[in-house]
Amino acid sequence: MVFQSDLLQGKTALITGGGSGIGRGLALALAAHGCNVAVMGRRAEPVAAAADDIRALGVQAAAISADVRDPAAVEQAVAQAAELAGRLDILVNNAAGNFLCLAEDLSPNGFGAVVDIDLKGSFHASKAALPHLKARGGVVLNISSTLQYFGTAAQLHVSAAKAGVDALTRVLAVEWGGYGVRVNGIAPGPVADTEGVRRLLVGRAKETAVGSTPLGRLGSIEDVCNAALFICSDAAAFVTGVTLVVDGGLWLASNGMTEAWAASIEQAGS
Ligand code: HXC
Repeated sequence: MVFQSDLLQGKTALITGGGSGIGRGLALALAAHGCNVAVMGRRAEPVAAAADDIRALGVQAAAISADVRDPAAVEQAVAQAAELAGRLDILVNNAAGNFLCLAEDLSPNGFGAVVDIDLKGSFHASKAALPHLKARGGVVLNISSTLQYFGTAAQLHVSAAKAGVDALTRVLAVEWGGYGVRVNGIAPGPVADTEGVRRLLVGRAKETAVGSTPLGRLGSIEDVCNAALFICSDAAAFVTGVTLVVDGGLWLASNGMTEAWAASIEQAGS
């Protein structure tokens, strides 16, 4: 492990979308560092399995099946998480929906479903958690993306939602800084073994992503977890309002001109 195993000892976290993929990885990583973890997700079976795995690490766990689109259910989930050990220190807004669809084919409900999950869900959970987070100076961590940094085709709905999430990170950091609550984000690039990559990087797209990434590989769930552990720990005590990109440099090299520049440089030098 990169960090000491007691990094988050005695704290409690709630992770939305914690039954699979990055959310599950984050739940286990926090638990492995001493944090009690409540895992929330739409499907009961994966959240129950994640909670079992968390308990096996020697901390307390709760499995909560609820949808972030339902503000009342989110309030209940927050209360349940806070009951685990009488406190709530960390909220990870990880729940997300996604599918490939061109804007001209996207229905109002399709656009709305993703905004409701990614953006409004993050708002509902953050607002519900605030009274608990205020008590000891807690942390909100929003899982964003880099898709919204470009005009990513077939990702209008997600890009709009995640741009909103980034705005939420900045505004809440300012509004809640006075309570000692830090609000940050992580923007992963494509992460191997996740539903997002399975759905979005179809066919040759995965190889192209690897080939275009300066660090030469897809991200791993562990890469995201290590960034999250830093942000959630006291090592980041003065870091707020930041969205940390964890993508091996992919988005910086994604203007479609990298090969053309390389050819120009070679020709200019010859
Ligand atoms: C067009 C679609 C669609 C598709 C759903 N819709 N899938 N439209 N193409 N493939 C439309 C539906 O037709 C419907 O609109 C509306 O969206 C709601 O769909 P429902 O299935 O009724 O809703 P629901 O069951 O609530 O879930 C929808 C969903 C879900 C959010 C899209 O399928 C989901 O959660 N998917 C995957 C989750 C996921 O991949 N998470 C990882 C995200 S990673 P109408 O008009 O018909 O009623 C990420 C970053 C990726 O975001 C970065 C990688 C590089």
